[in-house]
Amino acid sequence: MAQESLDEVRGWLAEAPRIAVLTGAGMSAESGIPTFRDALTGLWARFDPQQLASPEGFAADPALVWNWYASRRAGVIEARPNAGHLALADYGRRHPGRLGVVTQNVDDLHQRAGSEEVIRLHGDILEDRWFDACRRHARGANVCDPAWAERGSPPACAECGNRVRPGVVWFGEALPVAALDAAERVAQECAVMLVVGTSGAVHPAAGLACSARRAGARVVIVNPQASELDGVAHRRLQGTAAVLLPLLLAEEPLA
Ligand code: OAD
Repeated sequence: MAQESLDEVRGWLAEAPRIAVLTGAGMSAESGIPTFRDALTGLWARFDPQQLASPEGFAADPALVWNWYASRRAGVIEARPNAGHLALADYGRRHPGRLGVVTQNVDDLHQRAGSEEVIRLHGDILEDRWFDACRRHARGANVCDPAWAERGSPPACAECGNRVRPGVVWFGEALPVAALDAAERVAQECAVMLVVGTSGAVHPAAGLACSARRAGARVVIVNPQASELDGVAHRRLQGTAAVLLPLLLAEEPLA
């Protein structure tokens, strides 16, 4: 990639009072967590999202869905933040209040790297919640018990049969309102938005890049491949998160 593009974006970042970073599965790819839509390696190239990531799929076969998430959870627990996560966390520490991280990822690698107040649009794979929001279970938001992962099927209420499900957003479900509102604010207020490791295929998350652009921000994509947001971007930096974020966010001049 041309050194001039990197220098130019570093200049934009240096001048920006507020910076937003919208991350997707590619952010965690170099930590060993598979993406969704990459050909061959992406989860949706190998598994059916309607079966495994929808309320209808869970209702049809709770054990299948439960076990699939149990194996993904194990992968997340084993994974470690990569140099991209660490660069964002480090930048956040050096520039308090300047960086807003919004993620579509359900792993906790931004948090484990040390980023604070990460806005999570699609939930948390390490949490559980009740499938039906019946009155009895309305308050049981986080009912995770590691032993349950080994049972082979989701725990159920002995009285009403309600089941426990992973705390992620599935296809056909609404995003958490507070998180989406907070993300929109971050998009509206930033001078630069870095869009890192997302195909831009899933809305409303992808629409945040359009919101930022409409509000006057410069939008910069960090991705080794083309994405559906390329037309929204002022610059497209072709490369991976773990390589490019440390270069973009380093304080010292590039060699
Ligand atoms: P996708 O799998 O759709 O896109 C991943 C993107 O990351 C692609 O554009 C890749 O080119 C890029 N990529 C791959 N490796 C990379 C790397 N090392 N560095 C930077 N970029 C890299 O994942 P998302 O856009 O996150 O929903 O998908 C959005 C949502 O769809 C996910 O949050 C998930 C899924 O269904 C839920 O879990 C609710």
